[in-house]
Amino acid sequence: MARAIVIDTDPGQDDALAILLALSSAADLDLLGVTTVAGNVGVEQTTVNALRICQLAGRSDVPVYKGCPQPILRPLHTAEFVCGPDGLAGMHLDAPRHAARDQHAVAFLIELLRTSLAPVTLCALGPLTNLALAFTQAPEIKAKIDRLVIMGGARDLGNMTAAAEFNFFVDPHAAAAVLRSGVPITLFPLNATYQAVATPARLKGFDEDGKVGRHVLSMLRRERPGGASLGGNDGHPMHDPCVIAYLLWPQLFEGRDCHVDMETAEGTTVGRSTIDWWGRSGQTPNAHVIGTVNADEMFARIAASMRILDERTAKEPKAIS
Ligand code: BDR
Ligand code: CA
Repeated sequence: MARAIVIDTDPGQDDALAILLALSSAADLDLLGVTTVAGNVGVEQTTVNALRICQLAGRSDVPVYKGCPQPILRPLHTAEFVCGPDGLAGMHLDAPRHAARDQHAVAFLIELLRTSLAPVTLCALGPLTNLALAFTQAPEIKAKIDRLVIMGGARDLGNMTAAAEFNFFVDPHAAAAVLRSGVPITLFPLNATYQAVATPARLKGFDEDGKVGRHVLSMLRRERPGGASLGGNDGHPMHDPCVIAYLLWPQLFEGRDCHVDMETAEGTTVGRSTIDWWGRSGQTPNAHVIGTVNADEMFARIAASMRILDERTAKEPKAIS
């Protein structure tokens, strides 16, 4: 039986590839909904982008719910300097022909988890605002989550500031609440996701003839803006697809259980995640933290998945929208 998942996201090019990967793997992952949050760009645009990505995959039936327009306490910081003005620079996607659902993302998460008979896996690819609010409003829903897989934080240096990774920097209070929630968490910090750089060698398996492959390649081959040059200059780091790849192919990843602490006080270290990799603090681990990614194999499998998605959408013309 396919694993039931929800993707909470702020697309974002790497979010886009993550969503496409989930949609390509319907036999293994049952995507119940996409909830959007402000992050890479504002929430109106991340919502439009989520709709555009589902449409590209011929899956406009996947419900999209618009979430929080700003972090819990801090002013919103966005990342157009990396993602371009619409968040999906390089992809040139059509405008969506479907709208988001009327229900707010937080209300959807609460209702879904309250009523679901089976456990649900949550995939968090952006700032954790929606999830922190859902857990605060309805703590009982946490029992329905079998695992929360998060892209966020950094064991070493940050990418938004010297200390902080973007998603945790944007809403550190939400990250702190989620890390304290007691939900089983797998965390992908930057030290892991910077291993997943889309180098020219890793792009060879993608197929330019298909519609999905063409859009993905156009995004991945886009010249890297100066602000995105951390972690090497030979390609865009695909942070968020690691989350979905982990659900599909856990054998490609290694990590260990650690205590992760969040800095929420304003100052040079706000948004920093202190990951106790060596277990020095003696505090109880609150996350399984990934340290190693078999990125060559991961990209080979993602490329194959994009080819499958293209074959499927070509065979099912009615589903392509
Ligand atoms: C994270 O920040 C965003 O810009 C990316 O989409 C990813 O989720 C990496 O720090
Ligand atoms: Ca993201």
